[in-house]
Amino acid sequence: MTITEKDIQQVVGLAIEARKKAYAPYSNYKVGAALRTKDGRMYQGINIENAAYPSTICAERTAIFSAITQGEREFDLIAVVTQNGGFPCGGCRQVMAEFALDMLVVIADEDGKIHEKLTVSQLLPGAFTPQFLSK
Ligand code: THU
Repeated sequence: MTITEKDIQQVVGLAIEARKKAYAPYSNYKVGAALRTKDGRMYQGINIENAAYPSTICAERTAIFSAITQGEREFDLIAVVTQNGGFPCGGCRQVMAEFALDMLVVIADEDGKIHEKLTVSQLLPGAFTPQFLSK
């Protein structure tokens, strides 16, 4: 599927909507994500913090793991929404790289303003991918 401006608006809108449910009582930094499969199905994610801080999970990973749990494997678009256009963390970049090096990552803020659009490969050059384990 090609990615249109309308598609980008749609995933950003879903990420903004998801972000309202973020559970971030410790950092107060709410993050929402929306992930699109190559077939056009959508999965939302939020950051979910924990009193044992390292047990926190990021919004991008919540969305990806939710989709994987439903049997999805192929993705072409993800939007990440924060208050200020923050970028995905290294751990989330690595999880994205596992499934979708060519996926477009749209980074936006809570007003829907787009701060950056780039691929997972651009976010994580030289990623360690499954192919390294196959030979
Ligand atoms: N966070 C995300 O959800 N995604 C990222 O890529 C960066 C960080 C969350 C984790 C934590 O709940 C809060 O933002 C502050 O680090």
